Amino acid sequence: MRIVLGVGGGIAAYKACEVASRLTQDGHTVHVVMTETARRFVAPLTFEALTHQPVGVAVDDQPVGPLSHVRLAREAEALVVAPLTADLLSRFAQGRADDLLTAVYLGARCPVIVAPAMETEMWTHPATVRNAERLRADGVVFVGPEAGRLASGASGPGRMADPARIVAAVRRLFVPQDLRGLRILVTAGPTWEFFDPVRLLSNPSTGAMGVALAEAARDRGAVVTLVHGPLRVPVPEGVAACPIVSALDLERVAGELFDAQDVVISAAAVSDFRPARRASEKMKKGDRPSLLWEVVPNPDVLAGLGARKRPDQILVGFAAETSDHVRRAVEKMRAKHVDLMVANRVEAGRGFGPGPAEAWLVWPDGRVEPARGDKTAVAARILDAVRDLHAERAAG
Ligand code: CTP
Repeated sequence: MRIVLGVGGGIAAYKACEVASRLTQDGHTVHVVMTETARRFVAPLTFEALTHQPVGVAVDDQPVGPLSHVRLAREAEALVVAPLTADLLSRFAQGRADDLLTAVYLGARCPVIVAPAMETEMWTHPATVRNAERLRADGVVFVGPEAGRLASGASGPGRMADPARIVAAVRRLFVPQDLRGLRILVTAGPTWEFFDPVRLLSNPSTGAMGVALAEAARDRGAVVTLVHGPLRVPVPEGVAACPIVSALDLERVAGELFDAQDVVISAAAVSDFRPARRASEKMKKGDRPSLLWEVVPNPDVLAGLGARKRPDQILVGFAAETSDHVRRAVEKMRAKHVDLMVANRVEAGRGFGPGPAEAWLVWPDGRVEPARGDKTAVAARILDAVRDLHAERAAG
């Protein structure tokens, strides 16, 4: 996609470098257009190096050839302005065209996303409030501002949204909103089962699969809750995160949230067992090993949800298998009353972490479909299947 990134003259202009970099890494062609003041904060060369595209500033600059303001405006598939200063906001609201960026804004008919950044007094001034209302009425999407530390050192509303949030808003523009409004709970990561304050029973799950699912569902418009054990990947922005530690925590939290969900995807690698006793003090080498290793089974969280699910709810399970993947997945699907099973090939060092996944989607009617690629690709295929199941249910 072709994106114009407008950069206003505020200290947050340095964070626009990260926005430019991330959008470029997402595969977009990014044309940066700066205001004169922005150029005093960050050199155009920085953006040129990040985007590999020429940067424009003055109204008669021609970064993409003659009539650049017209070409940039016509060809842009999104206009992102970060930071949006109070002055720039006011000039947009008035429909001025006194530099390249305002001229592009006026000519653009694509979606416009703005990330305001200014001192609290300026953001809350009635003039700024009026200008922001006018832009919103014109269809402009605002990301932030957030409350936090400002250029003056004071703290309050006016801080530019995090670059990741701005990029996520851009991503949403280009992703079909085919899960809009669906409430999806994803469980992710391992559980930790402590047998004394410093030792535990667990597995090598990083949470990457569940996090990929949560992110993709969020981008497609779902309202996502992520109930997660200790993760080795970051919790995505824009999802409600509920951290848990043990299988019993997971059972309690998922159980409490279950009724409010349309879909539950159980990607957590739940420890099947927990120590029979948890010592309050660190165990000593000399303590009897038989006491150390005695374990009891954990509840099967997915089976518990399967037993109480309403007919309109969709339950997706994973089957981590080292062999006989599909047959075992079918058995688990039946036993746990699941609507879609993802058979995952796991072995030492494979199937965990951000690398490629080897999986099969298995439906109760006997259909089996391979889903290969990285976890993002597999997550996208799983969510397609969830969307189709939901549509079938809605159709009766
Ligand atoms: N699961 C669960 N609670 C457990 C164990 C598993 O909710 N105590 C869920 C997992 O999140 C997954 C599915 O059940 O969606 C299958 O997990 P898996 O570990 O493959 O299978 P198990 O049922 O534990 O069977 P086994 O260990 O015998 O292969």
